[in-house]
Amino acid sequence: MYATSPRRRVGLADAARGRVLFGGDYNPEQWPEETWSEDVRLMREAGVNSVTLGVFSWAKIEPRPGVREFGWLDRLMDLVHANGIGVVLATPTSSPPPWLGRLHPDTLPRDADGRTEWWGGRQHFSHSSATYRRYAAAVTEDLAARYGGHPALTMWHINNEYCTYDWGDEAAGTFRRWLRDRYGTLDALNAAWGTAFWSQGYGDWQEVLPPRRAHYLNNPTQVLDFKRYTSDLLLECYAAERDIVRRHSPDIPVTTNFMPMWAGQDAWRWAEEEDVVSVDLYPDPRDPFGAQEGALVQDMTRSQARGPWMLMEQAAGAVNWRGVNHPKPRGLNRLWSLQAVARGADAVCYFQWRQSRQGAEKFHSGMVGHAGERGRAHQEIKQLGAELRRIGPAVTGRHTPAEIAILHDWNAWWAGAQDGRPSTEVDPPQVLRAWHRALWEAHLTTDFAHPEHDLTAYRLVVVPQLYLLTDTAIDRLVAYVRGGGTLVCGFLTGIADEDDRVRSGGMDERLRELFGIRTLHEWWPLDPGEYAECDGFRGTLWTEEIEALTRAEGAVAVSRYQGGELDGLPAVLNRDRAWYVSTLPEPAALRELLRGVAADAGVRPVLEGLPAQVEAVRRGDLLFVLNHGRDPVTVAVPGEYRDLLGERRVAGALELGRYGVAVLSS
Ligand code: GAL
Repeated sequence: MYATSPRRRVGLADAARGRVLFGGDYNPEQWPEETWSEDVRLMREAGVNSVTLGVFSWAKIEPRPGVREFGWLDRLMDLVHANGIGVVLATPTSSPPPWLGRLHPDTLPRDADGRTEWWGGRQHFSHSSATYRRYAAAVTEDLAARYGGHPALTMWHINNEYCTYDWGDEAAGTFRRWLRDRYGTLDALNAAWGTAFWSQGYGDWQEVLPPRRAHYLNNPTQVLDFKRYTSDLLLECYAAERDIVRRHSPDIPVTTNFMPMWAGQDAWRWAEEEDVVSVDLYPDPRDPFGAQEGALVQDMTRSQARGPWMLMEQAAGAVNWRGVNHPKPRGLNRLWSLQAVARGADAVCYFQWRQSRQGAEKFHSGMVGHAGERGRAHQEIKQLGAELRRIGPAVTGRHTPAEIAILHDWNAWWAGAQDGRPSTEVDPPQVLRAWHRALWEAHLTTDFAHPEHDLTAYRLVVVPQLYLLTDTAIDRLVAYVRGGGTLVCGFLTGIADEDDRVRSGGMDERLRELFGIRTLHEWWPLDPGEYAECDGFRGTLWTEEIEALTRAEGAVAVSRYQGGELDGLPAVLNRDRAWYVSTLPEPAALRELLRGVAADAGVRPVLEGLPAQVEAVRRGDLLFVLNHGRDPVTVAVPGEYRDLLGERRVAGALELGRYGVAVLSS
């Protein structure tokens, strides 16, 4: 189910053509046409080579049902093309015009309480509405017919950040259809959902509903299936439009933009349906772990793309949707953009080109802000554009290698983050972040993978937490270790099967055997701020009462709990090349644990002795060195290099100023 399939012949390289794509969402319908020529002048000066058009243009293209107004878009496509700028053309289907909702209320989604989501914002469409799908297909068909052969067109962008849910009546019908496909019979559904509990047995398909507001906890497998179904229904919407544009322009790659670490889409499955995998990324400039958050999303996206990927959106400065929205300090936009390139991006793009003066996002920065071309943010954009042009030929298409895979699965997240569990303090994405952070701070580059993927190419596989694991996944993990791989696994893993049924013994037997756990007696989650003393470190969040196999049987308690109910029981257990960590060690301890296991598995950082704030990543035969600190640093780099950014020679030591970056070529 999660095997990877060969990518289509058409991909990002066809759009990038040896350049880093640089540009962003361009919404010129918000501006008088006089502004357009000014825009393209500034774009050229800034080295912009790509704009995304049409993301929210449905009402402009189809002001009344069935009417088409393409004249403005014709002029725009021609204008940017004449200026050497390519177009990523979006289907406008994420924000239907008001008339669609007025004439066809069935296109509007309902929340779990039955309330309608009205027009007046965006993304007010029901993935299940046959009417919505019909109108979306029609406008897509005409757009693709008109522009599929336009010389400016480099890529199709379907919809925007698919992220909607629907609990309404039409959705109830598509949910049943999805469930019939999955289970075949009601008996099988009843068995999978465990409906014997609380008298939930279904005798007629019409009784089966999306998990609407209920008096008390919803059935967890129903909730899990609703999440799977929602991801799949949105994917159907995407695929329908993708197939239309492909029919008109088979040689143009197709993408849609993910939100990073978004719960609503199983991105492993989605990525297989795209020619280009792209993501939107907005770390908080004030977040002390902003750079690591960026690295995590970049590693995840590169792994889903299995090669170069597209940074579809980021902010030149501040966003407008946090409580307090901080601009990016001087140099940070450049640093984070080059970090993305280091980690495999062949496209560095923004929301949006020109900052709006009206509408809900007028305080969101743009590549040209309210301050205009003299504004600092735009000046920094220009500098970045020039630098990307310089390094483009040396980086694009190159691979960012990693010897470690972190496993992540949406099913495990959906099942493991519900109510009614031992501790709501355990948040799967936060646990994932903690483990990625440990490896990032150890200066080790990581891929991500799905537990059913082929893992044999990696020296080390880490599982921060996969509460739910299929039999296929478990067999893969066991075979991976038996085949010589090293596995480090965090707590609360392998607890449930794919129906969210707790496995016999409370944790899968094959995994217990792998890690040397004889009995998992009880979980002892910790309160916020509570610590568990262990030999050599403190644990947080969670502890476990484990009875291990003996040393003679091959299990070694590397660290034990000290004091309290669990005194003397294993906190970290090792058997052969399999490690089990039954708590969340404090950050430095987790980092040192993983650094040591990685070293034993033969995995080392690309540069030794790096200062804490410095990141070093290899891409192809280039070495990117990034200073995430505000203080200048000197980094030891054995050998002689040329810095492609500064056009300087580097021998033995590299000086980097505040937020400084070097791209070293030997
Ligand atoms: C993205 C979206 C853009 C814009 C941006 C603001 O989620 O795709 O249209 O809203 O956020 O940060």
